[in-house]
Amino acid sequence: MTPFRPFLVGQEIDLAQCALLRSGQTRNVHEHSALPGLLIKTLQPGLVDDAGYFKAYPWWKKSRPPGAYFAFLRELEEFVVLSRRQWGRDLPGLLPVARINGLVQTSAGLGLVVERISDPRGGLAPTMMELVLRGELLPRHVLAMDRFLKRCSQLHIVFGDMTANNIVYSESRDPAGEFVAVDGFGEKASVPVHRWSKAINDRKIARVRGRMLSMVPHELRPSGEMAGVERVA
Ligand SMILES: Nc1ncnc2c1ncn2[C@@H]1O[C@H](COP(=O)(O)OP(=O)(O)OP(=O)(O)O)[C@@H](O)[C@H]1O
Ligand SMILES: [Mg+2]
Repeated sequence: MTPFRPFLVGQEIDLAQCALLRSGQTRNVHEHSALPGLLIKTLQPGLVDDAGYFKAYPWWKKSRPPGAYFAFLRELEEFVVLSRRQWGRDLPGLLPVARINGLVQTSAGLGLVVERISDPRGGLAPTMMELVLRGELLPRHVLAMDRFLKRCSQLHIVFGDMTANNIVYSESRDPAGEFVAVDGFGEKASVPVHRWSKAINDRKIARVRGRMLSMVPHELRPSGEMAGVERVA
């Protein structure tokens, strides 16, 4: 395999050399042997038309310049805003979102390079949805979910499409266990009210909590509210 030297003009990452780990609804998730601890996300080519828009988009969405890369941009922007708020300080070590390392050129267009969140065997950490479907959700996961949402509230992280498919549970970074968002963050509203107002953002986080709790078996549901985030079920 040709050694990967990032950012050389004309060089792109050949995805044929990368293992495909997951296919979500719109993206493929790959690993590259020269990028340990990271993942490369690309758009699934079959979903994108010749102009770079999702084929399934209605016509009025086909005027947006980033096209099918729109979600890349939304996540990048949220990460940049988070970094801007920490200007002059380091980003706190453990973020509730997978860190974004940048963009690379691949054989399937732009690749979003992100922190890989792993399970104890080095595989990808399970999503909350996978834990629910396998009947493996435990009280510690529910506590970790509340810690995740509280941390997102504190850091004023805006949710776009935060679902049980987009948070993964891991004990690799924090032995106490944590959920980490791997997708679904960033302002979706055309008027960015959640970014402007922490109170409005907290109400959204509370709604997301209500939806996530509805997937949790009754006996595991916490009785109280989550401190710091008002409950809107
Ligand atoms: N940083 C990460 N660390 C660990 N696993 C990840 C990471 N990013 C993505 N995954 C896994 O890959 C799956 C698909 O990734 P992603 O959510 O970014 O793509 P998607 O096309 O938006 O998928 P979906 O539509 O299912 O949300 C995730 O549900 C998760 O299992
Ligand atoms: Mg996703």
